Amino acid sequence: MFTKYVRDKKKCVNCGFCETIIRCPRPESCIGCEACFHGCPEGARNLAYDFEPRRKIRIVVDGSDFEVPERITVKKALESIGHLFTRFPEEEGIFAPCLTGGCFSCALPINGELRPSCHTGVESGMVIETNVEERTPLRIIEGFSPHSMGGVGTPYQLKMGIGYIEVAAFAAGCNLRCGTCQNYHVTYNSSGLPLTPKEAAANLTYVRKRFRVDRMAISGGEATLNHRWLVEYFKELKRLNRDSKARLHLDTNATILTKRRIDDLIQAGVTDIGPDLKALKVETFQKLTNIQDKELAKKYLHTSWEAVKYIADNYYPEKVFMGLGIPYNKFIHPNLDEIYEMGLKIANIDPEIQVCSLDYRPEFRKRDIVQPTPDEMKSVKKTLEKAGLKKVIVQTSRGHLGP
Ligand code: FES
Repeated sequence: MFTKYVRDKKKCVNCGFCETIIRCPRPESCIGCEACFHGCPEGARNLAYDFEPRRKIRIVVDGSDFEVPERITVKKALESIGHLFTRFPEEEGIFAPCLTGGCFSCALPINGELRPSCHTGVESGMVIETNVEERTPLRIIEGFSPHSMGGVGTPYQLKMGIGYIEVAAFAAGCNLRCGTCQNYHVTYNSSGLPLTPKEAAANLTYVRKRFRVDRMAISGGEATLNHRWLVEYFKELKRLNRDSKARLHLDTNATILTKRRIDDLIQAGVTDIGPDLKALKVETFQKLTNIQDKELAKKYLHTSWEAVKYIADNYYPEKVFMGLGIPYNKFIHPNLDEIYEMGLKIANIDPEIQVCSLDYRPEFRKRDIVQPTPDEMKSVKKTLEKAGLKKVIVQTSRGHLGP
């Protein structure tokens, strides 16, 4: 049975997001990619069965001929002839974590050009290769700009300074579906120009020099989705910024940050890392991230905590600076019990690790919540300190409160 996504006229407010930020691969007839379904800020796209008959078309994959149904994505066409795709890295198959056309992790040479297989419609006569090793990776990256606040992995003393403290770039695509996504214009961007690691590193280096700061960050979306791209990017950034003051900073949800990936990234030049720990309990993680598959949610959550422990045991603080993020809002945590348990677990790893709790405000699809008050955030701070943490920061509507 084929599926398509249809506009829900009652919910649609004609904001134009689906025409400007999300690039529909085939507006005239839906191919069932998931970009608008996940990215519409109003949630105004519904899944529907598509009963229209489909012809078979001929494609060439790795030099062999196949017949597949028309009006589906390249990813679905490959699945129909036995190729595997996966939502978790280092498993058998092509890693396709965002499914919205931003991360290019699933990108394959299609008619000679690297294009995301989850977001490209299959066409008659198409020539597809499944080996990308020889290709320069691409990814949609945007927003090269200076910042005065920094991210989760920015040391607290810098956050309290005046003026710009770092420059940052933002990577499209995320493996989570948080209703509170704070950066959804980037996360669901499939219309931007994909860049090579060298192009993106050169852009950020230029912005660094222009604004005379030493820290260069990448955030998202989720920067870690396209590992090959990210490793090459940090290597190039390091090559272009050889001075001892240069700091290369990665902010991440850490949900796919396996030990091998951590080693690769630190070897490539990462000096500062900011894992954002979403929760302790899988139910809370699912409530926040909207990952429906419980086994996948468990794996993501487990990996993020393991990543923190692995970095603390092997790299922190000598080789890398690590600062953790914890989101807070009453809708996620009706009381502070889980926050306290998270504090205990982090203190057990190392009580000196910097932890910054973020006051989640109404955003994206979750606009019925209220931003926590500064007093609520003070209670979060006290709770984390009571659990034994020594360096707790909370973000409030009036700025950061430090340790
Ligand atoms: S999984 Fe296809 S672009 Fe991210």
